Amino acid sequence: MITALVPGSFDPPTKGHLDVVERCVSLFDRVVVGVVHNPSKTPLFTAEERVALIEECAKDWTNVEVASFQGLLVDFAKEVGAKTVVKGLRAVTDFDYEIQMSQMNRHLSGDVVSMFVATKPEFGYLSSSLVKEVAKLGGSVDDLVPPPVAAALKERLP
Ligand code: PNS
Repeated sequence: MITALVPGSFDPPTKGHLDVVERCVSLFDRVVVGVVHNPSKTPLFTAEERVALIEECAKDWTNVEVASFQGLLVDFAKEVGAKTVVKGLRAVTDFDYEIQMSQMNRHLSGDVVSMFVATKPEFGYLSSSLVKEVAKLGGSVDDLVPPPVAAALKERLP
């Protein structure tokens, strides 16, 4: 049984994130989506809300589990039995940040291997921060996030 861990802030989850999870669904036996809970940050959605949103969006994928975590990613990977961490790369600008994190994770635990999935080109410009900005300013994000997330944004940012 090979488990992949797809970690992230997911504040909120976007179609780009779900695209990465979907790729993993067919490649791995089990996919754990790890929602980071960082007590020093004030996200728009609580960790519990982000977990619930991803669960709703991923409900048709039977091998996906969603959980939040605090602390080191490598410790959470060990806890859920994942030796592979998968992240999406939108463009070369993501690479610097992602390679640094993957090398730090490798330093912390030689057991964990980071793998990268190229996101769909049409999601190359998509980020949770931009989605929040557009939603806050009254723009439509219906094409950028799954319907449950669009509804949650409308409620949180009327
Ligand atoms: O969606 P993001 O913001 O790119 O996700 C970043 C995340 C959650 C993968 C990263 O912040 C993380 O791994 N946090 C856990 C803390 C940790 O392990 N830090 C040291 C390794 S760089």
